[in-house]
Amino acid sequence: MKFGVIGAGQMGGGIAQVAAQSGFDVVVHDQKQEFLDRGRGVIEGSLGKLHEKGKLTDPPEAVLGRMQFTTSLQDFADCDLVVEAIVENEAIKKELFRQLGEIVKPEGILASNTSSIPITALATASGRPTQFIGMHFMNPVPLMQLVEVIRGYQTSDDTARFVNETAEKMGKTPLSCNDYPGFVSNRILMPMLNEAIQCVMEGVAEPEAIDGIMKMGMNHPMGPLTLADFIGLDTCLAIMEVLHQGLGDDKYRPSPLLRKMVQAGLLGRKSGEGFYKYN
Ligand code: CAA
Ligand code: NAD
Repeated sequence: MKFGVIGAGQMGGGIAQVAAQSGFDVVVHDQKQEFLDRGRGVIEGSLGKLHEKGKLTDPPEAVLGRMQFTTSLQDFADCDLVVEAIVENEAIKKELFRQLGEIVKPEGILASNTSSIPITALATASGRPTQFIGMHFMNPVPLMQLVEVIRGYQTSDDTARFVNETAEKMGKTPLSCNDYPGFVSNRILMPMLNEAIQCVMEGVAEPEAIDGIMKMGMNHPMGPLTLADFIGLDTCLAIMEVLHQGLGDDKYRPSPLLRKMVQAGLLGRKSGEGFYKYN
C-alpha cells in the first residue's frame, strides 16, 4: 500500500509517521523543503521517544526508510490513499483536491483530515466524490486512539470500508459520523475551548485557574486553554468560523479575544506564544 500525506505540519507529520510505523510506504509533501525538514525532525524525535519506551516494532531508521519527502505533487500519482493535512482553509483545500483529482491514479482514494470543513464540498472539488472521505486523526496522532471517519454525501461503501480497515491497520479505532459542520468532535469540543477564551476576556479567572479548574475538576488531561494552544489558535478560529457560518447560530460566535490573538500572530505552541509562552 502506498500512503500519501499532504502537509508536514503537526498533523500531517504524525499521520505519516504512524502510517510508516504500520508498514506502509509513505510519501509526504509540503510546499517548501524547509517545512519538510522541520516535519522530518519532529518525526525523528517522536520515533526516538517511542523506541526508548519499547513501543516500536521496527527501529526508527527502518520506519524512516519507508518515508519519502517531496515538494512535487506528481509523486502522488501511484498512491492508493492520500490524506490531506494542510491549513484549515476551504479555498486552499479545494484547489489542492482539484489538482490531486487529476494526478492520483483513478482507483486511488482521497481523504481530508479537516477539523470542520464540509467533506462533501471538498469531494466535489476533487472530481471523485464516491472515492472521497473525511479521515480525522486526533492530535498528537502517535498517542491518540481515535480516527473520526466522516462520510460525504456521495462517499461509497467501498471507500468507507477501505478507510476503516486502514485506520485499524494503523492501530487506531475508527468511529463514523455524517457530514455536518464540525462533525462530532469539534462540534462539541470547540465551543468549550471558545467559552474558556471568553472567560479570559471577561476576566472571570486567570488562564492557569481556568485550566486548573477543568483539569482537576473534570479530570480533563489538559485544560482548555492549554489544549487551544496545542491545537493552534488559527485552527481553533477557523473551526469556530465554520460552526458559526454552517450552523447559523450565534452561540458559535468566535470569541473576539481569539480573533485578536490570531491577528496578533499569537497562535499558541507553534508560534511560541498563545495563552502561555513556549520555548
Ligand atoms: N510522540 C511520541 N511521544 C510523545 C508525543 C509524540 N507525538 N507527544 C507526547 N509524547 C510523550 C511525552 O513526551 C511523554 O513522554 P515522557 O513520559 O517520556 O515524558 C509521554 O508521551 C506522555 O506525555 P505527558 O507526560 O505529557 O503525559 P500525558 O499523560 O499528559 O499525555 C497527552 C499526553 C496524550 C497529549 C494528554 O495530555 C492528552 O490526552 N491531552 C489532550 C489531547 C487532546 O484532547 N487531543 C485532541 C485535540 S482536538 C483534535 O485533535 C481535533 C481537532 O480537529 C482540533
Ligand atoms: P500546521 O500549521 O501544523 O501544518 C500545516 C502544514 O501544511 C504546514 O507545514 C504548511 O506548510 C502546509 N501547507 C499549507 N498549505 C499547503 C499547500 N497548499 N500544499 C501543501 N502543504 C501546505 O497545521 P495542523 O495543525 O497540522 O493542521 C492541519 C490540518 O489538520 C487542518 O485542516 C486542521 O484543521 C486539521 N487538524 C488539526 C488538529 C490539531 O490539533 N492541530 C487536529 C485534527 C485535525
